[in-house]
Amino acid sequence: MAIRHDLPAETWPDEATAAASRWFSPLALGPVTARTRTWVPAMVPWRATEDGRVTRDVLDWYGRFAEGRPGVLVVEATGIRDVPSGPLLRIGHDRFVEGLAELVETVRERSGGATRLFIQAIDFLSVKRRPPPEKYFGRFLAVDGALRERLAAALGEGRFESPDETPEEEVRAALLAAPREVVEATLTARQQDELDRGYRETVSDLHLPHVRSLPEVLPPLFADAAARARDAGFDGVELHYAHAYTMAGFLSRRNVRDDGYGGSREGRLRLPLEVLAAVRAQVGGEIAVGCRYLTDEIVEGGSRVDDAEAYGVAFAEAGIDFLSLSRGGKFEDAKPPRVGHAVYPYTGPSGHECMPTIRIDERGPFGRNVADTARVRDAVRAAGYETPVVVAGGIATFSQAEAILANGQADAVAAARQSLADPDWFEKVRRGRGDEVRRCTFTNYCEGLDQVHKQVTCKLWDREFERGDASVRTSEDGRRRLVAPPWRG
Ligand SMILES: Cc1cc2nc3c(=O)[nH]c(=O)nc-3n(C[C@H](O)[C@H](O)[C@H](O)COP(=O)(O)O)c2cc1C
Ligand code: SF4
Repeated sequence: MAIRHDLPAETWPDEATAAASRWFSPLALGPVTARTRTWVPAMVPWRATEDGRVTRDVLDWYGRFAEGRPGVLVVEATGIRDVPSGPLLRIGHDRFVEGLAELVETVRERSGGATRLFIQAIDFLSVKRRPPPEKYFGRFLAVDGALRERLAAALGEGRFESPDETPEEEVRAALLAAPREVVEATLTARQQDELDRGYRETVSDLHLPHVRSLPEVLPPLFADAAARARDAGFDGVELHYAHAYTMAGFLSRRNVRDDGYGGSREGRLRLPLEVLAAVRAQVGGEIAVGCRYLTDEIVEGGSRVDDAEAYGVAFAEAGIDFLSLSRGGKFEDAKPPRVGHAVYPYTGPSGHECMPTIRIDERGPFGRNVADTARVRDAVRAAGYETPVVVAGGIATFSQAEAILANGQADAVAAARQSLADPDWFEKVRRGRGDEVRRCTFTNYCEGLDQVHKQVTCKLWDREFERGDASVRTSEDGRRRLVAPPWRG
């Protein structure tokens, strides 16, 4: 049952305490050293051009985070293919390097050189919008003998089994008119999912040639993206192996590929390791190479923390420079979208684990990913590796972060939404002015904007904003500030 939780009370440190703290101490990440263990993980703000290029709004967004001088700032999930992907950043061709180099320059300048800038590289499979039932039953659904048998049994009418007695159009019409129980008894789980959430490719769809060939196609795509990141001046690349996307699909226990890239744990790890090797071969030790993956997929039949432990050890053994752990964020249990809309992976139980809100079970939203991250870190240490481990999820105070580091549960502590609410918060804490932190309320207004692909902003920014103030850049409707208000620290 959902309970409404209060934000944790915080006694912020004075400047000397912050200076002596673990969170504000340096951390080596392969070839680069972060000045502090403060970290802003990837957040998509929907500010690129339709063809994936850096815009002034993108520069403003990352420049504003840079002013808070996090140890590491990770640029949003950035597409590695040269295909249209809406206003998401892209890195799938050399023409993107120039804009990305400007982004690197902006962050360097506005952080005074204090922030290490990484970029998250993503591949994703096709997701279609939820179809109207008439269209799904009328056209998309494949009517075969097995479906006919199940429909006949559900309706208690044998004639549906025989194409001679009941033509396909009648089967389709009967399903469209049937009550939900009959539909559920007739469709396979996959078909039900297509009806409720829209058609979605998975890595196990080996009948699709472009899915079958992913193991050949992806290593060079990721490697070339990493080379471009290096050329643009990034300090590191984070391979996106988390949430609802292609590489997480390979790591998932739900991956049933029978071509050596699925099934067993070794099979599931194979492509992620091959991608890592290709990236490393391309960029060597010139930039940091890490990955983001899940401690627990949360969804039924998904990977659990014991998988995550094994994956962490395997990545460490392969020489990865850092492991960033997230949680959940899957399509399989997402809330069915409205007809005509695409499914969003942060709406169901796994999504709520990924970006927990203050309305959640008795464990509360704060630090839900810490215990499992600590298990992954312990497994990596027990195997003899010192690979740094980054944790995220409901962390929004100095005390939380410092305790996680003191307990040896992670090596860097990331905060997404708290950094969005107040990009200056690391600086405020570092200077002993934590009382000025604008605290995230964990109610996910920002996530709602992400869901509908609107430019992401924080609801707290608008409190100090007079509409019509021409000096403030706003969203297209003029209602929302596009960047956090300035801190005149
Ligand atoms: C607007 C928004 C966009 C996000 N985009 C990404 C993304 O591109 N890649 C990613 O790995 N995580 C993404 N996340 C997840 C965050 O990085 C983070 O894991 C999550 O919000 C939990 O951390 P928090 O409690 O500190 O917010 C996004 C989160 C938000 C709020
Ligand atoms: S919109 Fe809400 S949840 Fe998002 S950063 Fe702002 S306060 Fe936090």
